[in-house]
Amino acid sequence: GKILLINGPNLNLLGQRQPEIYGSETLDDIVASCTALGAELGLDVHARQSNHEGVLVDWIQEARGVAAGIIINPAALSHTSVAILDALKMFEGPVMEVHISNIHKRERFRHHSYVSARAEGVIAGFGTDGYGFALRRIKTLLA
Ligand code: DQA
Repeated sequence: GKILLINGPNLNLLGQRQPEIYGSETLDDIVASCTALGAELGLDVHARQSNHEGVLVDWIQEARGVAAGIIINPAALSHTSVAILDALKMFEGPVMEVHISNIHKRERFRHHSYVSARAEGVIAGFGTDGYGFALRRIKTLLA
């Protein structure tokens, strides 16, 4: 199956961006390890990143009938975007939400995510390992 891995705003700068919070791994590192793990699990991981809400909505719409599951870190848009939630509601497969940091330990405005209402699972605070956990969980849900 094909799995869409979506990363939202500012995650293109992972590695440089507040490394004390987000760690030293780059987005390329995450994509490489998810692609390798996917190959092990028999899942074809397609990774995309955008800083633009509408672009993310377009990709989620295009995944309908094409991808078996979606792993998404909506980044700051988690806390604001009803549009991403609504797009995910039209996708038929499992959705896993990933946050690198523990959003519940941070500012109040990060405690709520609109996307969580559509996610089978939410992973927060496991660093970049969270993406691999999400992929393994999707494999289980699809089996
Ligand atoms: C994040 C947490 C969000 O609050 C923040 O805006 C991000 C990244 C995380 O992965 O920990 O950009 O989603």
